[in-house]
Amino acid sequence: MKNILVAGGAGFIGSNFVVYMLNKYPNYHLVVYDKLTYAGNLDNLLEVSDEPRYHFVKGDIGDAAAVEAAVRDYNVDTIVNFAAETHVDRSITNPDAFIQTNVYGTYVLLEAARRLGLERVNQVSTDEVYGHVPHGASSVETDPLAPRSPYAASKASGDLMALAFYTTYGLPVTITRGANNVGPYQYPEKAVPLFATNAIDHQPLPVYGDGRQMRDYQWVGDHCAAIDVVLHQGKMGEVYNVGTGQAMENLAMIEILLKALERPASLVRHVKDRPGHDRRYSLNVDKIKALGWEPRYTLVEAITMTAHWYRDNEWWWRKIKSGDYQVYYQAQYGERLREAAGEVME
Ligand code: NAD
Ligand code: DAU
Repeated sequence: MKNILVAGGAGFIGSNFVVYMLNKYPNYHLVVYDKLTYAGNLDNLLEVSDEPRYHFVKGDIGDAAAVEAAVRDYNVDTIVNFAAETHVDRSITNPDAFIQTNVYGTYVLLEAARRLGLERVNQVSTDEVYGHVPHGASSVETDPLAPRSPYAASKASGDLMALAFYTTYGLPVTITRGANNVGPYQYPEKAVPLFATNAIDHQPLPVYGDGRQMRDYQWVGDHCAAIDVVLHQGKMGEVYNVGTGQAMENLAMIEILLKALERPASLVRHVKDRPGHDRRYSLNVDKIKALGWEPRYTLVEAITMTAHWYRDNEWWWRKIKSGDYQVYYQAQYGERLREAAGEVME
């Protein structure tokens, strides 16, 4: 493995992965292939922009000719696919792009890898494909898939296609299924950066429903390290869960954020819930740990470090939160927040 095409490498986790791999492997080349949707941002890659082993290609993973050209041009031997539409709320209001990118786009990458005889494809997937799990239970890699949102269903489809390419064509494929990531460069539509940036600005935090839903908020660098381990040691055709194996309620996550940012609990607003909101995810991570990987950070550390990063990097998120973001924010939260303030009568 020397030349890795990182599809979606200008997004949150992909950009962290590119920097991680360039620093760790002095002889690897990392080719970011990214459409630069609203979530793609070259600011995420500024620290490596002068690095000769980093390359950028603007392109859609659904464009077979462009994908093949990038693979050939850079003599790519490995694909890691982060490219996706990733926000559950957007998948509820407009699922179309989710199907296009997460299902069809994944197929295009697999087909390019098959036609060009690549060494490996790692499909980056999510714990959401298992659906929500009751207290006391945790998902293992062999569990049936039971996705409940259009986002989760599109990711489950990508996983199934990847496994079908392994079984049918012998394509060397691995799949990593990650829990919620937190850390630098996460687009502030996701709960942790949304709440952190709102809190910094003394704005309300719109908490869906009772806020007692549970998530495993893992540090993005730990997730990147796990993908690296799977790329080098993962068995073809296998799936690996990635997370801390712990989970906390959203209200507990908010308490940690507010403490780190020195803001009061009075900023919390309970608003109308997300339709079909998954109550709890929990991953069993024994399989990836058996490869020698361990998370470095606890949930409390990961959330605190993330809060501090947003506090110290306003240059990154203030640009994003102006412009189109405001249109999205009003559509997603305007009425919810007015309702929570008692301004909208049923
Ligand atoms: P993100 O939304 O921050 O970034 C997605 C990137 O993909 C962007 O750079 C975007 O421009 C690019 N992209 C979107 N459609 C594309 C297309 N058609 N062609 C090429 N590029 C395209 O996402 P993220 O949070 O970094 O997630 C990355 C991957 O990890 C996704 O596959 C997601 O399902 C998975 N995942 C995310 C989390 C999480 O907590 N964020 C957890 C587990 C798994
Ligand atoms: O679990 C992995 C998944 O984590 C990834 O596959 C997804 O790409 C990623 O977006 C994330 O999905 P979630 O739906 O868990 O993340 P989100 O940040 O949107 O929400 C986290 C929790 O916070 C969830 O219970 C919903 C809640 N929430 C979210 C938002 C945006 C709120 O209460 N208010 C909000 O405004």
